[in-house]
Amino acid sequence: MTDNSEIKEYILGVNSTELRRLEFQHDVWKEVTDSFLNKINIQKGWKCLDVGAGPGFVSMQFLDLTGETGEVTALEPGKIYLDNFREYCRTKKIENAKFINSSLENAELEENHYDLIFLRWVIDFVSDPGNFLLKLLRSLKKGGVIALQDYAYEGIALFPKGGPFDNIADYVRKYWIAGGGDPYFTTNIPAVFRKENIELMEFSPVSLAGDNRSNIFRWAYLFFKGHLHSMTELNIISKELEAALDQDLESHYENPDTVFFSPVIVNIIGKKK
Ligand SMILES: C[S@@+](CC[C@H](N)C(=O)[O-])C[C@H]1O[C@@H](n2cnc3c(N)ncnc32)[C@H](O)[C@@H]1O
Repeated sequence: MTDNSEIKEYILGVNSTELRRLEFQHDVWKEVTDSFLNKINIQKGWKCLDVGAGPGFVSMQFLDLTGETGEVTALEPGKIYLDNFREYCRTKKIENAKFINSSLENAELEENHYDLIFLRWVIDFVSDPGNFLLKLLRSLKKGGVIALQDYAYEGIALFPKGGPFDNIADYVRKYWIAGGGDPYFTTNIPAVFRKENIELMEFSPVSLAGDNRSNIFRWAYLFFKGHLHSMTELNIISKELEAALDQDLESHYENPDTVFFSPVIVNIIGKKK
């Protein structure tokens, strides 16, 4: 049985501002996710599970890719996020979508059921990612695919350097850890796969870069505008540092010579033997 007291509240929260940020995030990273989905070669009729589906933007793509004979299950603990996907399915009169309004830890999943289990920006946030992954592997069919996109939280950088933002990766890693997560969990996944007889088909890093008015810098800008203050509340940074980081971001936003690099996202595909 799962002990609920060990499941920490999801650090980034579930609210309408975050929903809009996730929507923008989906647009900024869509090309990366689309080419990842192409590699998976999703077939009509597949049963897909989108874990921590958020507002369901990728689940919507799974519906198109698997067609009417497929089955798409969005598992998401945040009710307003799952409702976004429910509403999409209702207006499109989609009948082959399923909804699980729960954390994975508290969900009952059929074993050996799914052709594809997908997680984007989820596993680095959960408290016990090793067992989280094992539970998912049990519900994957033989021959089925597990696909993850998540951080190995390195590489984020803002040029010209010289301001407090130079140390931002450290603060964000502490923020993830404060929520019970592990900003490097992706790097453990090849070892878990080896032990669990999952063939590692893909393990590739992706980073995006852009200038002061690029969508990728705006993505980071919006994240820090929304979350720097939470880092202060958790005593990860001081009030003074919060103000200095904010100022650093603003001055880069006005500087046409700015170059921003995103943190590394790792694309991982494993196949159950
Ligand atoms: C950064 S969002 C990503 C949402 C979506 N996967 C996407 O790519 O747009 C992380 C999501 O994981 C969900 N989540 C957090 N902890 C979870 C858990 N223990 N089990 C399942 N989902 C969880 C959150 O509610 C949130 O919707």
